[in-house]
Amino acid sequence: MSNDWIDVGAASEVADGAVREFTLGHTRIAVTRRGDAWGAINGQCNHVGGPLGQGRLDGDYVVCPWHYWKFHWQTGAGEPGYEADRVPSHHIRIEAGRILVQRAAATPRGHLPHPPHPLARPPERAAGSIRVLGLSTTSMTLDQPRYSTSEDLLEHALDSAARDLGCETRLIRFRELRVRECEGFYSKSARACTWPCSITQMDSRDQMEQVYEGVVHWADVILVATPIRWGAPGSLYSKMVERMNCIQNQETLHQKHLLKNKVAAFIVTGGQDNVQAVVGQMLTFFGELGCQFPQFPFIAHSRGWSAEDMERNQAVVRDSKGLHEGAQALAARGVQMARMMIEASEGASTFVGGGRKAQSEEAVARVPPGNA
Ligand code: FES
Repeated sequence: MSNDWIDVGAASEVADGAVREFTLGHTRIAVTRRGDAWGAINGQCNHVGGPLGQGRLDGDYVVCPWHYWKFHWQTGAGEPGYEADRVPSHHIRIEAGRILVQRAAATPRGHLPHPPHPLARPPERAAGSIRVLGLSTTSMTLDQPRYSTSEDLLEHALDSAARDLGCETRLIRFRELRVRECEGFYSKSARACTWPCSITQMDSRDQMEQVYEGVVHWADVILVATPIRWGAPGSLYSKMVERMNCIQNQETLHQKHLLKNKVAAFIVTGGQDNVQAVVGQMLTFFGELGCQFPQFPFIAHSRGWSAEDMERNQAVVRDSKGLHEGAQALAARGVQMARMMIEASEGASTFVGGGRKAQSEEAVARVPPGNA
C-alpha cells in the first residue's frame, strides 16, 4: 500500500446513502457511500467551518448541517451556480473492508467572493441628535387593528422624545415584519451562530434586518414594549430576542462589542401581575447585549388577579394621564442617560468587555473539567 493512502475506518461504518466524518491526520473529511460508489471531500465547510461529515446527502450534494451550503459528494464543487465555491476532494478506495483515502487532496479549495453583508460594517455612532428606537412586540391581526396598552405608552414615549427632547425617533412594530424563527444554530455550535445572523444572510425576504440595523447601527436608546402573556413577555418579544442572540454571542465568541453606549428601557403591561419577573428577563437580556439602564428602567401597568374586565383596563390606560406622563419620563431618563454616556466616551478609545461569562470561549475550553 502506498504511504499516500490512509486507512480511516471500516467500510461497514458507512451505511448506503450516509455521510460520515473521519479524520485524515489533522484533517476532517466527509466520506459518503452510494451503493458501491464512494466519495471523500474535506470536512470543513467554506462558509464558517461547519462539519460536512456530520451533514446529510441531498442528491449529489453533501449538505452542511450548520447553514445548508452544499458540496458535490465526490468533486467537492459547490452546488449549481456556485461551483467555484468548492472544498477539496480526495481519492478514495475500499480494500479488504477498509476505507483508504489519499492524504493529498486531488482538487483544491476555492472561494467565490461573498461581499460582506451591510450589517457587518463596524458599528460607529453617526453624529447627530439622540436617536430613540421603539420596539413594539404586541401581536394582533394586521388588517384588524386593536388598541394595545403597551404600544400606546410606547408611542407616547416616542412622541415626547421627538417633541420635547429633540430626538430622532423610529417605531418598529415587530408584528409588521416578516421574520423567521431562530433556527437554533447556536444549539449546534456557538460558531454556527453568526453575525450578521445566518438567516438574514441567507434569506433576503427575512425582515429581522430592520431590528438589527436599528439596534446595532442606529439607536442610542432602545425602548421595548411588551404585553404580559401568562406571566411571561409576549411571544413576539421572545421571537425577537431569540433572533438577537447572535448579537450577544459575538461577545462570547470574539469579545466583539456590537452595542456600545446604548440605553435600554422597558414598558410592560398585562392583564395580571408578573411585572417583576417579565422585566427581570428583559433587564438580563439587554444587559447581556451590553446595554445600560437609566434609573427606574421600566414602567408597567397590570390588572389584578380577580379583574377580568379588560375592556375597562383599556379605557384606564387610554385615559391615564399618569401612565402617559410616566412613559414620557421613561423616555427622558433614557435620553439623559444616553447623552451622559456619549459625552463621557468622546475621545475614549478603549472599552472593557467581558459580559456575563467574563472570558472567551477559548479560555473556557482551556479549563480542565472539574476545575471550572
Ligand atoms: S453552511 Fe456550512 S458553516 Fe455555514
